[in-house]
Amino acid sequence: MKLWGRILWTFLSGPRGRKGAFNSWKSHSSLAGTQQSAAGVVSHWTQVFEERGIPDARESSEYIVAHVLGAKTFQSLRPVLWNKPLTPKQLQCIQELCSHRLQRMPVQYILGEWDFQGLTLKMVPPVFIPRPETEELVEWVLEEVAQRPSAVGAQGGPLILEVGCGSGAIALSLLNQLPKSHVIAVDKEEAAVSLTRENAQRLQLQDRIRIISLDVTSEGCWTHLLPWGPMDLVVSNPPYIFHKDMGQLAPEIYSYEDLVALDGGEEGMDIITHILTLAPRLLNAPGSIFLEVDPRHPELVGSWLQSRPDLNLRLMAVRKDFCGRSRFLHVQKSAP
Ligand SMILES: C[S@@+](CC[C@H](N)C(=O)[O-])C[C@H]1O[C@@H](n2cnc3c(N)ncnc32)[C@H](O)[C@@H]1O
Repeated sequence: MKLWGRILWTFLSGPRGRKGAFNSWKSHSSLAGTQQSAAGVVSHWTQVFEERGIPDARESSEYIVAHVLGAKTFQSLRPVLWNKPLTPKQLQCIQELCSHRLQRMPVQYILGEWDFQGLTLKMVPPVFIPRPETEELVEWVLEEVAQRPSAVGAQGGPLILEVGCGSGAIALSLLNQLPKSHVIAVDKEEAAVSLTRENAQRLQLQDRIRIISLDVTSEGCWTHLLPWGPMDLVVSNPPYIFHKDMGQLAPEIYSYEDLVALDGGEEGMDIITHILTLAPRLLNAPGSIFLEVDPRHPELVGSWLQSRPDLNLRLMAVRKDFCGRSRFLHVQKSAP
């Protein structure tokens, strides 16, 4: 669902206040009781969504109809089903799900699942929905493990700490693609901890992951992690939005996702600096930290690290995302 995910998310994370965003939901023509094909219903709801200013009108409509017919995408439905009349029950179900979309609920929550790096993850509000660019962070970590033997660790596979696991997207895709790896995944939100646990079970990856409820800003939190280390890698997609930018988020994000997952404080650095402070205590030398950040952060993180030589950390590389914005950092621990 990579391409669709990208297209959909680009729109979903657009500015707030688009035309008709929170218009009261006036009654719209119901399709129940009429002979309607899947293709006809997709067109109908696309038009309704467009009229109400719902972003990604066609994609939203296609995903919902496909979901009710048991497929992931409309394009993957057998063509014979496109024109077959839907049952009244199917029509009612589509109407119900589309009514959530009219209230700007993200499609990922409406469907209750979303794909990330080839894994289907359960999605439950308000746990953060994994974004397509985070797949690039995972790919960078995989490249690092493939290229640098020191990242592999003494057990033949790396021991990885993920800070802020959310639905488990990063941790579980790394476990899935690195069969000898182990992950310690932490999050301060119970909803995230239990969703990561459930997704790990669903994907049969529970034996190589330890999921811990932990606030990385709490005093001495690293001592809780010490017994599980030393780690080979730390990876995180932390909350990094500048506080002043929070008001620009799309209604899908602002009204449905946990704001704790997004708000990184005044300069978006609150959790980033905590991760950079605790990581050297837990990492092997030369261990690595991979972070997803805002494009303003490479410079801010670089100067913050210069002000903290005691941490023995160096900003090694910055990578751009698929839109060409500097979004990923590789920081390495050197021997003291
Ligand atoms: C941007 S989300 C990333 C979720 C997931 N890793 C992903 O990429 O889809 C950030 C996560 O960090 C968690 N978080 C925020 N503050 C935290 C803290 N102080 N300690 C631990 N986790 C925290 C949030 O609950 C949220 O799940």
